[in-house]
Amino acid sequence: MTQERPEHLNRSQIIIQGSFYTPEKFVELAGRWIKEFIHDSSYIFLDSSCGYGAFLQLHDLFNENRFIGNDIDEHAVSIAATVYPDISFFCQNALTQVSRDAFGISDNDPLIVVGNPPYNDTTSQSGQKIKRGNDIKIDNDIKSRDLGISFLNSYDKLKADYACILHPLSYLIKKANFKSASKFFNNYQIEKIIVFPSSEFANTSKTVSFPVVMALYRRHEGNGVTFDKVKNIVFNTTDGCSFSINCWDYVGDYIRKYPGNIRYDQEILFYTLRDVNALKRSRTFITERIANAIDVDPKLLAYYCYIDCFKKYANAPYYLGNFDIPFIKEKFSSISESVTKIAKHNHPEVFGSNDAPTDAEIESVIKYINKVTSLSL
Ligand SMILES: C[S@@+](CC[C@H](N)C(=O)[O-])C[C@H]1O[C@@H](n2cnc3c(N)ncnc32)[C@H](O)[C@@H]1O
Repeated sequence: MTQERPEHLNRSQIIIQGSFYTPEKFVELAGRWIKEFIHDSSYIFLDSSCGYGAFLQLHDLFNENRFIGNDIDEHAVSIAATVYPDISFFCQNALTQVSRDAFGISDNDPLIVVGNPPYNDTTSQSGQKIKRGNDIKIDNDIKSRDLGISFLNSYDKLKADYACILHPLSYLIKKANFKSASKFFNNYQIEKIIVFPSSEFANTSKTVSFPVVMALYRRHEGNGVTFDKVKNIVFNTTDGCSFSINCWDYVGDYIRKYPGNIRYDQEILFYTLRDVNALKRSRTFITERIANAIDVDPKLLAYYCYIDCFKKYANAPYYLGNFDIPFIKEKFSSISESVTKIAKHNHPEVFGSNDAPTDAEIESVIKYINKVTSLSL
């Protein structure tokens, strides 16, 4: 068993390198999945960001196959090399001059990539102070603002036959991410997938966790997964829930989400809308015209008031963390007046003083929000 925490790194180094090592139970599950597809000792297993080598334990299960480990972190590689003396290791940046040749793999070798690449969205707000900028060299054809997406694209560049990997669910469900990873998704179909919370990794926040998937992808050149197909995928979580993007409507589809040039007679400002986890940290109604301010269309005020109430009352499961704010459109009219009353009362700095909502109004909104957040298949 390899350690699940990089003992040689401090907290900020762990974040910069994305060195959150994979718990053993996921490697075991990966082994069971791969066994269903690969029975051939000619397959080479490559973990191009292996850390201490959690995924290289699969060598015990596939002991006739050749395994290759690589990591940019010299110290991690030296520890992995001690644990796995029979495996060949490289210590190089896996995102530059990406080629099979760089790992001693020939074009004809059947190849499976395994592992848990670093995720490091250099533009995201959380932990921004210690996140690395663009100081690491990445080939232009696989480049993305998120290291993990660049890794996915690198697996496509290596023309891996399979990839059994961990990555944030947001790569699949957020259109912008999906597009950045299109080199990969265009050429790979999902054979197996499971969702779990990021809090499963040692040293991560237990309070705000985000959904991560482990998936087994199989190469189908030019016939991969499309965003429309993703909308219909039934995602199962490790704790027995099932959901799909189509379970919910999203308020963001009905209102302006980002700042624009349209102004209204009555000026009401709202903070730029992001996902459920970002809403926990961000403001809603604001009084200053800052760069992130959206002008609220007064006709659509109830939707913004709903978001304000969602922030206040929702106890959303972690797997909703990277979704836009969900709601049930057809039942919204039943609470639109109540959410407006609640939000107006809670923001006198924006709306002046207003009557307090009744307990029944608050209860009906909480009931609606609980229904939204507990929807599953
Ligand atoms: C999330 S950890 C996973 C380690 C291991 N695969 C596991 O599952 O336990 C990501 C690893 O990626 C490595 N890494 C970060 N950037 C890299 C790069 N450009 N090339 C190779 N490895 C990199 C880090 O040093 C870290 O060990």
